[in-house]
Amino acid sequence: MKEQTHLSRGGVDLVLALVDGALVIEHWGAAIGKLTTSISATRERSISNSAFDNRQFSGVMREQSRGWLGNPTISGHRNGKFWSTKFEVSNIATSGDHVEVVLLDSQVQLEINLRFNLDEYGVLTQVNSVKNIGSDSYTLNNFAYWLPLPDRASQTLDFAGRWSNERNPQRRDIATGLWVRDSHEGRSGHNFTIAEIALTENTSFASGEAWAISLAWSGNSQFMVERIWDRTQSIGASEILLPGEVILQPNEKYEAPALKAVYSKSGLDGISEKFHSHIRARSVHPKKARPLTLNMWEAIYFDHDARKINAIAEVAAEIGVERLVLDDGWFGARRSDRAGLGDWIVNKEVWPNGLTSIISDIHDKGMEFGLWFEGEMVNQDSDLYRAHPDWVLNTGGHSENNWRHELVLDLTNAAAFSHVLEQVSAVLTEFPIDYIKWDHNRVVVDASHNLQAAVRNQTLAIYRLFSELKKRHPKLEIESCASGGGRVDLGVIDYVDRFWVSDNNDALERQRNQRWTGQIIPPELLGTHIGPTPGHQTGRSLSLSFRATTALFGHAGIEWDVSKISSDDKTALKTWAAYYKANRDLLHTGKSIRIDYADENAYLYGVIDRKRERAIFSFAQLTPTTAVHPAQLTFRDLNPEKNYQVKAVYPAGAPLFMLIEPPTWLTGVTLSGAVLMEIGLPAPILAPENALLIEINQSN
Ligand code: GLA
Repeated sequence: MKEQTHLSRGGVDLVLALVDGALVIEHWGAAIGKLTTSISATRERSISNSAFDNRQFSGVMREQSRGWLGNPTISGHRNGKFWSTKFEVSNIATSGDHVEVVLLDSQVQLEINLRFNLDEYGVLTQVNSVKNIGSDSYTLNNFAYWLPLPDRASQTLDFAGRWSNERNPQRRDIATGLWVRDSHEGRSGHNFTIAEIALTENTSFASGEAWAISLAWSGNSQFMVERIWDRTQSIGASEILLPGEVILQPNEKYEAPALKAVYSKSGLDGISEKFHSHIRARSVHPKKARPLTLNMWEAIYFDHDARKINAIAEVAAEIGVERLVLDDGWFGARRSDRAGLGDWIVNKEVWPNGLTSIISDIHDKGMEFGLWFEGEMVNQDSDLYRAHPDWVLNTGGHSENNWRHELVLDLTNAAAFSHVLEQVSAVLTEFPIDYIKWDHNRVVVDASHNLQAAVRNQTLAIYRLFSELKKRHPKLEIESCASGGGRVDLGVIDYVDRFWVSDNNDALERQRNQRWTGQIIPPELLGTHIGPTPGHQTGRSLSLSFRATTALFGHAGIEWDVSKISSDDKTALKTWAAYYKANRDLLHTGKSIRIDYADENAYLYGVIDRKRERAIFSFAQLTPTTAVHPAQLTFRDLNPEKNYQVKAVYPAGAPLFMLIEPPTWLTGVTLSGAVLMEIGLPAPILAPENALLIEINQSN
């Protein structure tokens, strides 16, 4: 077996070494060139006073038996015994950018398989599994991924939130101890961090080092940064296993959800660029242009009146909408959120002739049709619950814990699973439905199947259900929604084509939310809608121009009763829709850029194409400027040697300017990339809650 294994791709290197039978990650980070010598000296520190007499290299397994005094990689036992492991590497196989390591502990009788893969963008995917090779059961408590962090990584960045206010960044210093961001909601959740990022104090959007991890998982999870007393620090993540959730019988294996790890030398935007490229390279990434969508929810809520819907559809088609989505309220006794959930049968009172005619009207108008489901949940007031009260997930004897009047169906129960699958599939077979919005409006807590914790299996079941639906209905697209952005993660991403970012359609809130959701997920997967005004979640009134400019940077849509809008608004929506369609190739494949803007009252961000020929930026004045003039607009990633034509555009109407005369460049100027990046242009003075678009096109 080789002593040292070195992977190098996309500006990222991984060096693994075999040290006294343990596997040690000697380096994960910047490219370090071709290695002609062992780098073992880089980790052989002093032996200090009051310490183990020999140098300890616990390696990836982080075992006490090898001197590790922080959190371990694996924790479990055999009926109270064999908790302490000492794994020995039994095989390392390298092929191309893939390394597979087998570790054995013949006393505890476990076999661990570690798979590392570095893709062309420098994204490291790790998949670890543990197999019980003994003759009795092994209770697995936790099985984590950990990667080393260098001492200069001094801060962490992660995201916290709640319903309607997801992904608020929190950045803090790393100190000795364990920093944990955990999610116990049984879905990733609104407070789910989506990624844990370690950085240096000076790391910005554009520059500095960052080490980021994410987990391909939608169930319970935790992200961790640990610095132990000897200064060693690392970043890790794992699925949270509830007590007894995984008990491995002889020959059984637990495969942990994949870890995705990214290192960047070019700041937080470097991290997004790598994640975006990795996500875009998946075979399941949507290839079709992202259709301009109108979702009916905030337009009609439960008021399913065919005439109203037709009136909305009429105007939607005129505006240029390409997909119309009928949200909650079309099925069972679902006249409010208190009844009917679980009965996926068209409500005959509301839709006496089924959905055929509404769908064909919508198709005739040249739009796709989408429909809402929430297949994992059930109202107690439903035929399904009356027939199968035992099909809900709970722990025997505890009173049922309703949330939005819902309980969770036990999809680990084969009968319940197949009921949901068949009922949903029957609707998709009977009606020509192009797209479904799949919701998950409550937490999965106190969730047992036959008294055994069932979050893990429930999570795997929904992945299975989505795959089966897509297999049966190959053209079907799915949107992942969970009361807004409560299931945005790298696990469900492989089964869905869009994420509903937040129930909060207020553009001012969306500016921040989209900025940080985009840290990991590329814009074409993020549902961004123009909501009504005043906004239903905040009561704030915002101009159409601001709402539309904000909604452009994603998979754009409208969630507003357009049958009641003014003719000026309709005209603005038409030009905006045309602009979205003309530019979505760039918006959905380009590189996302967030400028480290010198004024905290505004954002400057955009998308540039790979050849650096074409970019669209948005300058969004969020709150009033403190100085007279907002900070100079300096750009990034342009070709310094080429000239660019720069101008402001207003596809959904001009913003509210607060000035006598605007900067001269707004109507057009030609400057070199170097000038635009080094000197930049004066920002116009806008009223707060206003934005404009800046087009930058290479002219020679
Ligand atoms: C959730 C979703 C909304 C809407 C409602 C319907 O809150 O996030 O977009 O679909 O459910 O009940």
